This record gives sequence, structure tokens and C-alpha cells, in this order.
Amino acid sequence: MKKQITKKSILAIFLAAFLILGLAACGSSKDTAQETETEKVEEPAEDTADDVADDTATVKGTALKDGVLDLGTNAAFPPYEFYEGDEIVGIDPEIAKAVADYLGYELKIHDMEFNNIIASIESGKIDGGIAGMTVNETRLKSVNFSNSYATGIQSIIVTQDSEIETVEDLEGKKIGTQFGTTGDIYAQDDFGVENVQSFDKGADAVVALSSGKVDAVIIDNQPAISFVANNEDLKVLDTDYEVEDYAIALTKSNEALLEEVNQALTALKDSGELQKIIDKYISAD
Ligand code: ARG
Repeated sequence: MKKQITKKSILAIFLAAFLILGLAACGSSKDTAQETETEKVEEPAEDTADDVADDTATVKGTALKDGVLDLGTNAAFPPYEFYEGDEIVGIDPEIAKAVADYLGYELKIHDMEFNNIIASIESGKIDGGIAGMTVNETRLKSVNFSNSYATGIQSIIVTQDSEIETVEDLEGKKIGTQFGTTGDIYAQDDFGVENVQSFDKGADAVVALSSGKVDAVIIDNQPAISFVANNEDLKVLDTDYEVEDYAIALTKSNEALLEEVNQALTALKDSGELQKIIDKYISAD
């Protein structure tokens, strides 16, 4: 009797276990699906690069201990950065904001002379710079550069009646540039320091061109178009002096920040947000 009961109980236990396991198996597949969904909504911090197409996906940045992303710019460079009233607007501040938001940092933009941005990064005053800044070997010795977010072209502005038609025609002419920019460096290298007059702002070089103090201005294409749009007497030559990559400059002392910013830029590229920002300020034609 005792034995029989034991056999029966064992059978019952097996049956029960079988049933429970079976039910659990059915239930768990549902649970897993639910869990994944919840995770996506409630824990965006765990999103991987694969999830970046989702507009709302973000990651929690940890590279900046104070939680503030301090970036230098030179807000005299439309449409990348310029003043609208008291506010600095344009492609760069919007990209910077999107990057900071993505990483959960507060953004602080510091307006300064373009030529001071890299020195300020090196001295630790700011974490980086976003200023239509071209990646080049010299700068790479002082700062890290993020992945590129735009292409820049060095262009030539002349007066409508100018005899200058090509880059070669600049030989022996007075050239205006913005101090410390790649255009400034190329002009000095190619046409001699004595022929180049550098100004604090690109717009000042353009004023000098209008008043006949220089014969041409070498500056990035989009600001060139924007400066000329306000001045009927000037035109941008249809020649690409140099094609360059724009990127965010970042302090060399924080490699984790570089990784985070690149992760954010990839996410913004994949979600289409980056292009949306650029399209807002630059028309396709
Ligand atoms: N792309 C050029 C450079 O990196 C000019 C950038 C000037 N930017 C500015 N915000 N003023 O040298």
C-alpha cells in the first residue's frame, strides 16, 4: 500500500511537473516579447547602435563628470553659426544640441575668436569646438576630431567686374581671409603671406573686398554664398579651391567623450535628424 501510494505520487508529481513546465514554456515566450518591448520604451540607456534609427533612442553619457558639454564656436559663420538677436543659431549649435540631448548632457556654447578655439580646448577651458571646423593634420596634433558631419569647400569671392576667374588668377593679388582658418593657411602657402590680409571675421574680409581693399576673399562655400546673398556687387567663383571635412573638435584628454560623440553622430545620421538640421539651413540647389 505504501509502495503503491509512492508510485502514484511519483506519477502525479511527474504529470504536474510536465503540465507546469508546458504552461511555463507557453507563458515565457509571451513574457519575453513583452519584456523586450518594455525594455525599449523604459530603458533607452541600454539601446545599442542598432536601435539608433529610433528617433527617441538615447544613451547615457558618462565621459563628462559635470554633465555639461562645453563647446566653443565662432558665431560669424552663417549658416553654420550666426546670431539671431541674442541667440546663436545655425547648423552647428543644432547638431551640438542634438548630440548633447542624445547623451543626456547639458550644452553650453561659448562664442570666441575662431583662432582661439583649439587653444581653449587644449587649456581645458572647453571640452571641444563646433565651428565648421575642418579636419587637418596640424589640428589633429592638438585635438581629437569626431567623425565628419558635413563637407566644406573653400571658395573664392570676387567683385562682379573682377578679372579673377580661376584659382591661378589669384597670383599676385591681395587676398582676404578669416584669421586662422584653412582658407587663410592655403592662401599664405600658395600665394605668399605678403599677399594675404587676415580678418577676425569672414564678414570683415568681405567688407574689405566690397571697398576694394582686397581683390578676393577665400572662405568656405556656404558662408561665401550667404555673404554674397547680401551684396549684389559680389559673386562666388564656380571653382572649388579645396574640398574638406567638417567635424567636432574634442579634447585629447577624454577619449571616452570622442567615442560618445561619435556614437551620437552615428545615431543622428541614421535617424535622419542630422540631414534634417542641414536641410533646414542649406537648400539643395
Ligand atoms: N573650415 C574652416 C576651418 O576650419 C573655416 C571655419 C571657420 N569657422 C567659423 N565658425 N568661423 O578653418
